[in-house]
Amino acid sequence: MKKIEVTTSASIFDNISQLSSDDQLLMEKAVEARKKAYAPYSKFSVGCALLLDNGKIILGNNQESAAYPSGMCAERVAIWKAGSEFPNMVVKKIAITAASSQTEVNKPVGPCGACRQTLSEYEINQKEPIEILFMGEVGQIIKTESLLSLLPFSFDSSYL
Ligand code: THU
Repeated sequence: MKKIEVTTSASIFDNISQLSSDDQLLMEKAVEARKKAYAPYSKFSVGCALLLDNGKIILGNNQESAAYPSGMCAERVAIWKAGSEFPNMVVKKIAITAASSQTEVNKPVGPCGACRQTLSEYEINQKEPIEILFMGEVGQIIKTESLLSLLPFSFDSSYL
């Protein structure tokens, strides 16, 4: 038996003004997207902004439904919107923010497992890391240099 270490490194910023101007702009776009979320059931709104290598910014937010499990997360709304419009795109960065009408979300909200899995497919295909930035409504922002660093031992098409 042998033990291995799996490590993830991340940068932590105290607020949005500490980000580079590109990252700040992308996070502001994610906030705009968050404000348009359709989340009447969870009251938890998530916004996502993707920066593509053609300079376009694609927005997404969570979309819920009275049949609760039938909703969709902001990140997958955004990546599928981007993938459907720009099939050969390269995603450079993803900014995510979440807020609730019931409580102040003051810690960074990372993408859920299903979104990490979905996003990993794009990072693998494009052979370039996707930077991920995430925050709550207020407070610190976490930035990682790649999506796969958030998903060790992940499943991919090589198993099929
Ligand atoms: N949600 C997202 O949009 N992204 C995530 O990564 C986690 C959760 C949404 C789904 C649902 O509409 C609400 O947040 C509460 O789970």
